[in-house]
Amino acid sequence: MATVNSRRKVGIGLLGSGVVGEAIQDILFHDLKGQVGSDVELELRKIYTRSPQGKKWFGKRKALFTSRPEEVLDHPGVDIVIEALGFQAAKQLPQFRDYILRAFRNGKSVVTSDKAVLARYGKEIWSAAKSSGQQLRFEACVGGGIPVIRSLSESFAVEQPEAVFGIVNGTCNYILSQMEKSGKPYAEALAEAQQKGYAETNPASDVNGSDAEAKLLLLSMVAFGLQIEPGKIWRKGIEEIQAVDFRYAQRIGASTIKQLAVARRRGAAVQVFVSPALVSGENFLAGVDGATNAICFAGTSSSGGRGGRDCDYVLVGPGAGGGPTAVAVLGDVCELARGTRKFSGLPSLVPPGTLKLQREDEIDVPFYVRFVVKDRAGIVGDIGKTFGRMGVNISEIWQLRHVEDELRGLMQSYKLKQKSGDVLPFVMTLERTTLRQMRRALDSIRNRDYILVEPVWFPIWSSN
Ligand SMILES: NC(=O)c1ccc[n+]([C@@H]2O[C@H](COP(=O)([O-])OP(=O)(O)OC[C@H]3O[C@@H](n4cnc5c(N)ncnc54)[C@H](OP(=O)(O)O)[C@@H]3O)[C@@H](O)[C@H]2O)c1
Repeated sequence: MATVNSRRKVGIGLLGSGVVGEAIQDILFHDLKGQVGSDVELELRKIYTRSPQGKKWFGKRKALFTSRPEEVLDHPGVDIVIEALGFQAAKQLPQFRDYILRAFRNGKSVVTSDKAVLARYGKEIWSAAKSSGQQLRFEACVGGGIPVIRSLSESFAVEQPEAVFGIVNGTCNYILSQMEKSGKPYAEALAEAQQKGYAETNPASDVNGSDAEAKLLLLSMVAFGLQIEPGKIWRKGIEEIQAVDFRYAQRIGASTIKQLAVARRRGAAVQVFVSPALVSGENFLAGVDGATNAICFAGTSSSGGRGGRDCDYVLVGPGAGGGPTAVAVLGDVCELARGTRKFSGLPSLVPPGTLKLQREDEIDVPFYVRFVVKDRAGIVGDIGKTFGRMGVNISEIWQLRHVEDELRGLMQSYKLKQKSGDVLPFVMTLERTTLRQMRRALDSIRNRDYILVEPVWFPIWSSN
């Protein structure tokens, strides 16, 4: 990094010229013209993308573009490599990891917005950063423009973390908000999200929870020092939620349904999961609408060890979008350029290896279960007895009056052939129980001849 007129000149190499990459170029070429405050000048020296032609800045900055990643990674004038590549299939991730490792080997620090590569290869990437003496930053990987990683690892440095949880996928939040507001079926709300650009053409990683999982793994690493591989935590998507679930939610404590990513202390273990959850109307998260993200943090020091509170801090903001994500990426770049904060190894509040992941079967929460059954006598009693035999206590039973249109909508969604009068939806809320007990009970119930569709079940959010 050379010093020019007392301003530090820092060479940047950019991998990726998609939504995030172009927003970074917009800021560097147009808004900032490279200058950051009075002390740093960021100079974008090479941009890799598979097909440079047609990219927004290609016409004006042709010489900067390349379709060969090594021209960025091996560039002698590049001090910091930004990795903003977007993958379509998991098989591409090793290639992206290799780019990051090569940058380290070449003496460059890396800033990435790519949560998928970090969630999958974090251990290897962190250890390579450490052994090469290079820096790695990843603020944009979680919560887009919300400064959550820095807040956790720096502002809460002396905290004893109890919980970090919240809404980390704007696409799911948008779909669920639309279903709640307009009573739209899931498929229609998803199509609308795609039309408005909130959901990808292939929205699988959003709606099945794997995008939220990748972010949660990074949060669990920073808060609790856990290094968990993707696929090792309990994960439930939002695909099974129907408009009717919002009606029941409303009746149960004026609640709503949100996709939550949760990591919280359970003694020497940490409970980590992604799932839709029933959230009481009184909870702050219930009011977080549309594509917004909100991440809550609870710590023993802030609460004076009193516990029992849902959270001490909430960080809210735009969870995605080129502009906010580029701001987060360039915030990291500036930090590296200024050399204000250096650390090697994992930036975690709890030393890695101190806490372990709670076994999935032991996750213990209250549950919401919605059944759709053939309308005949004795069903509620039979289900109740089965739960009882498995040691699962029922808290409440809800059976709302359903108008003809609502039932027809539900039957269409499930392609049921019965007459609407023969179909009965109802909901049970269950007291805190483990996933093991819950699964055993549902295994026994789901094959009864009166069950018309797979029961829909998910946690009821509670602060402990
Ligand atoms: N968009 C957001 O709001 C947001 C927010 C937070 C984090 N992120 C993360 O930031 C990263 C970039 O997101 P994005 O929205 O900018 O993605 P994008 O618009 O799809 O752009 C992806 C870039 O990666 C390149 N690319 C895609 N597949 C590649 C492959 N197999 N090999 C080499 N290059 C490949 C593309 O090249 P061509 O276009 O030339 O084919 C393009 O330059 C992703 O990891 C994403 O998860 C995005």
